[in-house]
Amino acid sequence: MKVGFIGLGQMGAGMAANLLKARHEVTVYNRTRAKAEALVREGAKEAATIADACRGDAVFTMLANDNAVEAAVFGEIGILGSLPAAAIHISSSTISVGLAERLTGAHAGLGQGFVAAPVFGRPELAAAGNLYALAAGEQGAVKTVAPLLEAIGQKTFVVSEMPKAAYLVKLSGNFLIGSVIEALGEAIAFVGKGGIDARQYVDILTSTLFGAPIYKTYGTLLAEGKFEPAGFAAPLGQKDIRLVLAAAEDLRVPMPIASLLRDRFLTLLGHGGDKLDWTAIGALAAKDAGPATN
Ligand SMILES: NC(=O)c1ccc[n+]([C@@H]2O[C@H](COP(=O)([O-])OP(=O)(O)OC[C@H]3O[C@@H](n4cnc5c(N)ncnc54)[C@H](OP(=O)(O)O)[C@@H]3O)[C@@H](O)[C@H]2O)c1
Repeated sequence: MKVGFIGLGQMGAGMAANLLKARHEVTVYNRTRAKAEALVREGAKEAATIADACRGDAVFTMLANDNAVEAAVFGEIGILGSLPAAAIHISSSTISVGLAERLTGAHAGLGQGFVAAPVFGRPELAAAGNLYALAAGEQGAVKTVAPLLEAIGQKTFVVSEMPKAAYLVKLSGNFLIGSVIEALGEAIAFVGKGGIDARQYVDILTSTLFGAPIYKTYGTLLAEGKFEPAGFAAPLGQKDIRLVLAAAEDLRVPMPIASLLRDRFLTLLGHGGDKLDWTAIGALAAKDAGPATN
């Protein structure tokens, strides 16, 4: 297929590379143009403008947040004004439920397709083409873009015909990961202050009852205290917890753990943690506990 790709950050670069590997014709656009160079060497065409990335059958967006997606879609010579009727916008960024509703209406109004396809998996999985895609949208459009989602991921879950539903599932997943990071951080602080080595502790956990990938990935990052370079930067994690709480408020669902995570992120960012991986919120419990006494 002829596909545009807008947003070549940590996730987008790997996703676009896998579309190329699957022999799709890929045109890439990024605000900071240097990030397109490696993909051009691998066979991508570089678009000078967002509009130039919108001339094919579909265009992906993999941008940081609502503001970036809004600017790319609704801006002057943005996606809305450039994508041909019947072509499809595939939105893989983690965005708000509210923006998903706005995008659904705007694209439908112009006869364009809109498929929500947020993903689970960090940049390593994106580079390996092993993400999990959560697809939602009108059935025909989801079917049309299936080969593109197969190229970027190991499995696609079709969630609903309503695009916003995919973001509810994605945001709930990040809420759960954030909860695991916080709980692991507290447990590591607890045993650590009692003199137990964090690496050995995480090894015991993940070799027994806690073998899930999330415990392995985040337990190891916490035990090693390695939060730079960030695979998923703390401001993006904070954004996701903010989006969870906004959607939960609309649905009138109290989520006390999400409220606690919000404060953990504010503490981390308030102390200059912008460049750290979001896992660094898990290290705050050990700081609260103070140094080991024996
Ligand atoms: N990293 C992960 O583990 C992960 C996993 C699943 C989902 N996600 C989600 O995927 C999305 C991208 O994440 P990422 O980790 O790839 O982020 P990233 O490395 O920070 O990349 C962000 C991308 O958005 C662009 N961008 C940011 N603000 C912009 C603006 N105002 N106008 C135009 N472009 C703008 C950046 O362009 P420049 O290069 O010019 O800065 C870059 O292409 C986010 O919604 C995130 O929540 C991330």
